[in-house]
Amino acid sequence: MTPLQLPPGAPGARILGFGSYRPRRRVTNDELAQRMDTSDEWVQSRVGIAERRWAEPDETLVEMSVAAGGKALAASGLDASDIDLVLLATTSPPKAIPGLAPRIAHQLGAPRPGAFDINAGCAGWCYALSAAADAIRSGTARNALVIGGERLTDYTNLDDRATAIIFADGAGAAVVTASDEPAIGPAVWGSDGDLHEAIAIPPNETGMSMAGQAVYRWATSKLTDTLVEAMRRAGVGPDDIDVFAPHQANLRIIELMAKRLKLPDRTVIARDVIRAGNTSSASVPLALSALLESGEAKTGDVALLLGYGAGLTFAGQVVILP
Ligand SMILES: CC(C)(COP(=O)(O)OP(=O)(O)OC[C@H]1O[C@@H](n2cnc3c(N)ncnc32)[C@H](O)[C@@H]1OP(=O)(O)O)[C@@H](O)C(=O)NCCC(=O)NCCS
Repeated sequence: MTPLQLPPGAPGARILGFGSYRPRRRVTNDELAQRMDTSDEWVQSRVGIAERRWAEPDETLVEMSVAAGGKALAASGLDASDIDLVLLATTSPPKAIPGLAPRIAHQLGAPRPGAFDINAGCAGWCYALSAAADAIRSGTARNALVIGGERLTDYTNLDDRATAIIFADGAGAAVVTASDEPAIGPAVWGSDGDLHEAIAIPPNETGMSMAGQAVYRWATSKLTDTLVEAMRRAGVGPDDIDVFAPHQANLRIIELMAKRLKLPDRTVIARDVIRAGNTSSASVPLALSALLESGEAKTGDVALLLGYGAGLTFAGQVVILP
């Protein structure tokens, strides 16, 4: 058999820059309490969300993703023409066909890159980051743009108090490139498909349903081990973690995970859920962008990431921040 050639690849991959887009319209709990039987006190105490952003008609998934991707490109110092892979993690495309990554790449001016959408629930961006890093390490790509974008309000019954208080819109992105020093650790990813109906759009319905308590139990009982394993595989421990940025679904889950991991007091914990709500695939890059913009997170910080959600899916990894 004739052996095939493989490209030389790279020792590792790293993130060069982040970008984000938050829709203009803020929706407070008090506003929601005017249209459904809920209260600011209930939402803040159970979920930790104070407000969220809902996209207006002109803030389409493509426009939000292009805005976040453009900012990530600007932060990276690369040009759109350097990008040869564009990944869009999303669970809320307006149509099944076509995927949106090619159009987003085109609007950004990237010439004919590999481009595809990834639907791995709220874990999508962490899956996509790992896929991009692996493509770069194997030599399939040189520079990747990894976007998490959602218009979850298109798939949420905005009068259903169980879901309307939680889900929201936005986009976050990062540019990933080759690196001699690995700065994106191995992903620990997996799925529990026996729970596939826990977060789903039921037959004959247009809005999402979520078995909140079941997902809460799953997240708090099964995912700490994933985080521990992600640290182990990257060769770091809890004391090395400068930033903890798990999926922004529920503040109580975030705090509980941080406590179980015994992260040091100095670790900065992402609490973007308070003002962004649950933006699914966008939540981790949105949270990291905010921490870097505010100066709470710094270049060179070691960050522990985790995505989890519909599927049910999960993916965690350690990265060094740009
Ligand atoms: C969704 C979630 C916030 C609900 O909180 P909870 O404490 O489990 O609340 P429950 O669903 O048990 O409901 C408790 C009561 O509050 C009521 N309730 C539900 N939503 C309410 C709201 N928005 N306002 C006021 N009351 C509400 C329920 O009807 C129920 O009333 P009852 O006791 O009279 O039957 C919580 O389960 C959760 O965050 N789960 C995990 C979600 C997650 O991590 N998703 C990630 C992947 S996307």
